[in-house]
Parts: sequence; structure tokens; C-alpha cells
Amino acid sequence: MSILRGKHILLGISAGIAAYKTAFLVRLFVKAGAEVRVIMTPSAKEFITPLTLSTLSNHPVLTDFTDEEDDNAVWNNHVELGLWADLFVIAPATANTLSKMASGNSDNFLIATYLSAKCPVYFAPAMDLDMYKHPTTQKSLETLQSHGNILIPSTFGELASGLVGMGRMAEPESIVETIEQHLLEGLPLYGKKILVTAGPTYEAIDPVRYIGNHSSGRMGFEIANTAAQLGAEVILITGPTHYKAHYDSIQTIPITSARDMHDVAHQNFDAVDAAILSAAVADYRPKFPALSKIKKKAASLTLELEKTEDILASLGEKKEKQILIGFALETENEVANAIKKLKAKNLDLIVLNSLNDDGAGFGGSTNKISIIDKDLNQKNYPLKSKSEVASDIINELINRIHA
Ligand code: CTP
Repeated sequence: MSILRGKHILLGISAGIAAYKTAFLVRLFVKAGAEVRVIMTPSAKEFITPLTLSTLSNHPVLTDFTDEEDDNAVWNNHVELGLWADLFVIAPATANTLSKMASGNSDNFLIATYLSAKCPVYFAPAMDLDMYKHPTTQKSLETLQSHGNILIPSTFGELASGLVGMGRMAEPESIVETIEQHLLEGLPLYGKKILVTAGPTYEAIDPVRYIGNHSSGRMGFEIANTAAQLGAEVILITGPTHYKAHYDSIQTIPITSARDMHDVAHQNFDAVDAAILSAAVADYRPKFPALSKIKKKAASLTLELEKTEDILASLGEKKEKQILIGFALETENEVANAIKKLKAKNLDLIVLNSLNDDGAGFGGSTNKISIIDKDLNQKNYPLKSKSEVASDIINELINRIHA
């Protein structure tokens, strides 16, 4: 899933030949899951039709302060549009538009909206090479960047005039990539690697039977998705579940048993900044799993069980710089037991859910947690959706990961 998903993107098109490429740009934004609205300067309509862009963006294209074709002219509110936008992309940005943006000369709807916008503004210049080199244009580029706008640099190549030089608008794919990268770099977990365990483990009795539990894996997947949404690279080690991770930055490693989860967690632990162990790992496994299916002969069957590896405790022993977060599912003496686990397993945070709370724990879409840190500060949260609970946990991590 792209970081642009769900974002409101305002695309401002000024009058340059590169305007024809904005059809592809709108398409890419929409494909990434963004909602796009288009503003054109009056002369930009000479280069690409508003009909093309309104069809691709699914919204009317705005050019003027009033809707000229309507007898009962409607006022197009540049302030509202500026506030609606999560990001404003001006592409192509001609020398004229750059100069007006730099000086605040708001004689058209695009510039008025630019001056009203509070969101990040990206601009992709496009013009002939001598216009590009001109000190006035260079000054506009400098001024605009000093005002916090983000330049998507022009490229070198053949220009509409037939001349070769700087001034080609960046290709639509590259505009999208630049914006995605810029947004990612601004996220609180950008550059951080986080290991998450999720789901149940299945411990083989024979080739067709196992000991398992009712964990759906949902909490762990919500945690992985939230961390990825906030910029982290995630290694998600999961037991059997039907959930799928939403982001390319989540590497999902499916496992079946506690032993496999233990081994994969240890292989990856050195490289991560934090680990959140939400899996419901089986505490015991059959000591001698049968190699072929057990036939029902005797009236009763006794299975000898042995302890599985305690993954959380073993990572706690090994940990150096990592922030280690565990879960505690308790039914009595909840806080005291959670604190005992926090200390015994050398954790930085423990997330306590009590099975005595309605709506907490396995299966459902909600959870009710308390988070206790190693200094024994405790935060109690109300019943929330598992995705909100994931945000609460990740926020506590963010507070510590940069500290
Ligand atoms: N955990 C683990 N490996 C295990 C068992 C548990 O990594 N073999 C992790 C879980 O992912 C969770 C935490 O340990 O983060 C607590 O699990 P829980 O079952 O509540 O605690 P246990 O330590 O198993 O203790 P008990 O069952 O006795 O309460």
C-alpha cells in the first residue's frame, strides 16, 4: 500500500507543454489510493483538456474563482480547497507560475489557493533551458524553497523547443516516488526496523494434529500495519492466520511452531531497533510427535509435553539497544503478574490485557490494555478497537525509540 493512500492531493497545473503528462500523474495518484482535485491556470487548458483531468480525477477541474459556464455563478473557495489538501503538487510549474508563487502575485485561482494552503507544497518546474538558467527563475526557485516548498528537480534532456538542456519536468513516476519518499522520511519510525510476532503457534502431535489456541493474529497484524504506516520496516513473524499485511515494507515470515518462531526471531533480532511480541506462543509441545498418524486403538491416550522456548525471555537476555515489548494475558493479580514478567524477561514495556475485561483478549475486534514500563509507570486505556490499541502501543514505542 502506498503512503499516498487516503491522502487529499491538490494538483496545480500551469501552462507548459509538460501539462500533457499530468494525465498520467493524476492516474498514478489515484492508483496509489489518493483523492485528487485539479486546478489549472486559464492557459493550461490549451495544453490538456479539463475533461480529461476531471474524468481521471473524478472531480470537476477548477480554473477560476467563479464557475464561468454556470449562469448562477458559483464561488470556488480557494481557502477551503487549500485547507482540504494534505499536499499540493504544482506540476508543471512554469517560470511565470514560479515567479508569481515567489512574489505572492495571486492573479489566478491556482496562486490564490497556493497562498491559502497550509500543507506541504511540492513543485516540479518545467521550461526551456535558458528560461530555467535565468537568474530570475533561479531566484524564484531559491525563494520558494526558503519558504519551505519542496522542489522536485527538473531533468536534463530534449525540450519542446528541440534544444537539449535542463528544464524537462520530472517524469510522473519520478514525481510520485519523490513525494512518497519525502513523506516517508518525515514519519516518526522512518529508518527504524521493528520485529513483531503474531498469531498462535501449532505444536505437532502427529502429521495431521496439533496443539494450538484461539489467537487470530489480529492484534499483531494491527501493530505491524501501524508501525509500517508510521515509516518502519517491519519483520512480521506469524503463526497460522488468515490476515495479510497491508504494506510493502512489512516482510511477513510465516511459521508454524514455537521452535520456528524462536529461531526466526533470533535470526533477525540483532538487526532491529525494537521487538513487539504479541504472539500467543504455546507454552508446551508434545515431546515425541508421532511421525505417522496416530491410530485410535487404546481407550485413552497420554501425551507427554515439554516446555517450548520462551522467545520473549530469550530475547530479553540477548537484548542490547533494542526496545523489547511483551504482552501479558492474565486472569488474576493482573498488574502484579505483569510486573513480574516485565522484570523476569528484561522488558522495556509490557502490555497487559486482563481476560476479566469484556472485549479484551483473543478473537474480537477490540481490546482493553494497560501499559507498564520498566520504571513501573502504568497507563490504563479504555476499551478500544485493536487498531487504536496498536496506535497506543506504537506511540509508547515512539516516545522511547528516539529518547
Ligand atoms: N511468549 C513467548 N514465548 C513463549 C510464551 C510466551 O515469547 N513460549 C511471549 C508472548 O508473546 C507474550 C509474553 O510472552 O508477549 C507473555 O505470554 P504469557 O503467555 O502471558 O506469559 P508466559 O510467560 O507464558 O507465562 P504464563 O503463561 O505462566 O502466564
